[in-house]
Amino acid sequence: MCETHELSSLSIDSYLLDRSAHVPIYLFDQVESTNDLAYGYLSNPAIDMVAVLAETQTSGRGRRGRAWTSPKGAGLLMSIGLSYESSPALHYEEWPLLASWALHRALTHVIHENVHIKWPNDIVLNEKKLAGILTELSSSANRRNLIIGFGINVNLRLEDLPEELRKKATSMFVETGQMYNRNKLAALIIDEIQQLRKHVSHGLRFSDIHEEWVAHCQTIGRHVRIVQGRDLIEGVASSIDHSGILTVIDDTGTHHRIASGEIIETSPLGQLSV
Ligand code: BTN
Repeated sequence: MCETHELSSLSIDSYLLDRSAHVPIYLFDQVESTNDLAYGYLSNPAIDMVAVLAETQTSGRGRRGRAWTSPKGAGLLMSIGLSYESSPALHYEEWPLLASWALHRALTHVIHENVHIKWPNDIVLNEKKLAGILTELSSSANRRNLIIGFGINVNLRLEDLPEELRKKATSMFVETGQMYNRNKLAALIIDEIQQLRKHVSHGLRFSDIHEEWVAHCQTIGRHVRIVQGRDLIEGVASSIDHSGILTVIDDTGTHHRIASGEIIETSPLGQLSV
């Protein structure tokens, strides 16, 4: 999958499997955050799905208040906005998990081995973070707008990654020595989200993909440290249930059920890194 082109909305469109849905694709050289722009586009009632990409961001947001930085032209910074009529059937809380499944599917079209999901919704390649997802929700009048922001380290060189992150973050180029076509990857992700949205509107829940999700998740059986609010929970990740809740068993045998949090360390049993 060689990188022959700059990002181009026409090129992304040409790679889409289902072009009948006419998903508008907006591409910018530099923005503050693609997530913010996606919200703006969804305020147009005629738009119920949109993809916004940028070559770089000046205020890219990560989970838990972190920044997401990526040098111009090397990563894939894309937000997909989905607009819904307000409905309890939205199950917004499941989308971070569903989105990681979609991103994993898209990435494994391109990289066939060693791509895993790290609970709750990071993607790791050869055990290092390759991509992150920031899912945000806003409500207006009778609509709910869901924004799924993907940050993927595609063609970054090792020196493009902040030095302090080089032990735990990576890029597709660093791991494989190949440059990747970001237009094609963007199209694969848009296709996956479009499919998923259709299935969700027909009732698909995380529980329906749970088995496959867990099979691709590297977290189970690992020794983990998880930040949850002000608490640090340390133990063995034993299971993820049908709602996506992670159970960690600590040294005293206490079971901690964790709905959301951040794994700061993960290692095979007996090799806890410090
Ligand atoms: C994480 O912390 O792992 C999530 C990172 C998400 C970053 C992406 S880049 C495109 C979109 N726009 C943003 O401001 N954030 C997301």
